[in-house]
Amino acid sequence: GRVVVLVSGAGTNLAALLDVHDDATWGGRVVGVVSDRSGAGGLSLARAAGVPTAVVAPADFADRPAWDAALAEAIAVFRPDVVVSAGFMRILGAPVLQRFADRVVNTHPALLPAFPGAHGVRDALAYGARVTGCTVHVVDAGVDTGPIVAQAAVAVLDGDDEETLHERIKVVERALLVEWVGRIARGGLRVDGRRVVVPAGG
Ligand code: GRF
Repeated sequence: GRVVVLVSGAGTNLAALLDVHDDATWGGRVVGVVSDRSGAGGLSLARAAGVPTAVVAPADFADRPAWDAALAEAIAVFRPDVVVSAGFMRILGAPVLQRFADRVVNTHPALLPAFPGAHGVRDALAYGARVTGCTVHVVDAGVDTGPIVAQAAVAVLDGDDEETLHERIKVVERALLVEWVGRIARGGLRVDGRRVVVPAGG
């Protein structure tokens, strides 16, 4: 399956996908990387791997609907079977979600529905949670509210700060994302209410 990855930041999740995508048994191929920031580290990783990139920066568009439409268009160019939001720090609008309905997944560094939003690690720590983790979910119109594909738990350790905890979450997050994007790239996915079914494929 053709995988398009959306990134805003360092792109360590993207790097994990690029590490496996030459392996035919994984089932997917990263065919394009799209960012909202021209300086995103993920873009350099993509270029180094020979994967085409596109930048759709909000500042280049008159308003939010124009940006939403341009983002949908930039993704569509790569004809994706799966779109992965991997540290993409913007809400995806209707143009993207309608065009790629049930084909967009996001990785979030907390066990949803706990601690949604941009500060999932900080919020879990501030709450005093002893277990947090990461979630791969199908993206819907809400913020981190879509049907859950997979989750993995990570213990909060005494003395953790946001950085140490996020680092341990990201180790687990990368493995979870690689496993499930591969499964989806091989077998597709079906959303049945709140349940996600990923058929064993390929
Ligand atoms: C990940 O933990 C993602 O879930 C979160 O931000 C981090 C992005 O990391 N929202 P990277 O850009 O993939 O390194």
